Amino acid sequence: MDNQNNQAYEKALNRLNEIERLPNKIDNKNDIKDILENNGISRRDFMKWAAAMTATLALPSSFIPLTARAAELAGRLPVVWLHMAECTGCSESLLRSDAPSIDSLIFDYISLEYHETVMAASGWQAEQNAHNAMKKYKGDYILMVEGGIPSGQSEFYLTIGAHGQTGAQNAREAAEGAKVIFAIGTCSSFGGVQAANPNPTNAMPLSKVTKKPVINVPGCPPSEKNIVGSVLHFILFGTRPSLDAYNRPTWAYGHRIHDLCERRGHFDAGEFVQSFGDEGAENGYCLYKVGCKGPYTFNNCSRLGFNQHTSWPIRAGHGCIGCSEPNFWDTMSPFEEPLANKLYATSFNGIGADKTADTVGVVLLSATAIGIAAHAAISAVTKNKE
Ligand code: SF4
Ligand code: F3S
Repeated sequence: MDNQNNQAYEKALNRLNEIERLPNKIDNKNDIKDILENNGISRRDFMKWAAAMTATLALPSSFIPLTARAAELAGRLPVVWLHMAECTGCSESLLRSDAPSIDSLIFDYISLEYHETVMAASGWQAEQNAHNAMKKYKGDYILMVEGGIPSGQSEFYLTIGAHGQTGAQNAREAAEGAKVIFAIGTCSSFGGVQAANPNPTNAMPLSKVTKKPVINVPGCPPSEKNIVGSVLHFILFGTRPSLDAYNRPTWAYGHRIHDLCERRGHFDAGEFVQSFGDEGAENGYCLYKVGCKGPYTFNNCSRLGFNQHTSWPIRAGHGCIGCSEPNFWDTMSPFEEPLANKLYATSFNGIGADKTADTVGVVLLSATAIGIAAHAAISAVTKNKE
C-alpha cells in the first residue's frame, strides 16, 4: 500500500473501531449474519461481495475486510428516508427483487428509522415516528431523500401529513439534524421529471432547498450498489467522498457510460444500429444513431449493470437516456434520436445541409470533447476546493 492508502486504511480502521465501541443506540433486533444465512448466502459469498464492493468504491483490495466490517456495522447507524415528489422507484428497485441481492439485504439491515414505503405505521403515528427518530438521533442520522421538491409559491403542491407541512419544510427540518445528507435518485439530485419544462410545481433538487451540503446519487433509479456503497463509504470514512462538478461521488460517476460500454468496439468501427429491430440490432451494434446518450452520461452502469449484474439498458437493446445527468428530460430528449441532430437543430441551425446522425463523427466528437473538457475543468475546481 502506498502512503496515501495507508493513511486511509488507518483512518477507516480507527473509525470502525470507534463505531463498535460506542454504545449502540439502535434497537435493531436483526443480525446481518442471520439475515445472510436465512437467505442462503454463505460467508464466502459475503466476502466475495465485499471484494466487489471494495473495487466499486475504488479502494485497494487490502480494504476488503474493512468493507465487510462496515457492512456488518451498517445496522448501527440510523437512517431517515424521506419521500418527496416521485414515483418511489428508487426505493422499490432496491426492495422488491424476488431473489434479494446482498446489497438489498444490507439495505434491509440498515436501521431505517423512518421510511414511508416500508414502515408499518401510518397517519399521525407515522408523523410521530419521524419526529421521534429525528429527535432521538439528532446530529447522528443519515438523511436520504427521494424525489423533487416543489418550492416557492408552489410549495403546497406537496403537502404531507395531518398538519399541512410541505415537503420542503419536512426536508429542511430533517436536514437540520442530519450528520450527512444524500439525494437519492435524479429527482432529488436535480429535480427530475417534476422539474422538466415547464416545471409547473417549481420542483427543485434537495440541494436548493437546504443550505447544508448534499451528496447526489442520481439515476432513474440509481443502482443498488450506488445507494449501499454511499452508506458504506460514509461508515468507512465519515467524510464526503471525492465529488464531481455535480456533487456526485467520483467512485460511482467518474466515468462515462460510453468509456466502458460493451458495444464500444462497434462505435469505434462505425457499426451502428440504424433502426430498432434491424440487422445491426441483432448483431449488437452501437446504439448511438437510435439515440444512445452514453457519450454524455457519467455513471457506472456499463461496469456494474442492474438486477445482480444480469443486464442494463444498453444490453437490453435501448440506448442510455442519460438518466443520471442534470435536466436529462429536457436536454437528452428525444430519447430515440441522436443528440447530434438536436445540436445541429439548435446551436448550428442552418449551418451545413446535413442535420442527421450521419455527421456523427464531427458532431459527436466535438460535443463530447466540449463535455469532457467542461467536466474535467469543473471537477478540478471542485477537487481544489476540498
Ligand atoms: Fe455504447 Fe451508446 Fe457509446 Fe454506442 S454510443 S458505444 S451504445 S454508450
Ligand atoms: Fe440511466 Fe443510462 Fe445507466 S439511462 S441507468 S445512466 S445506462
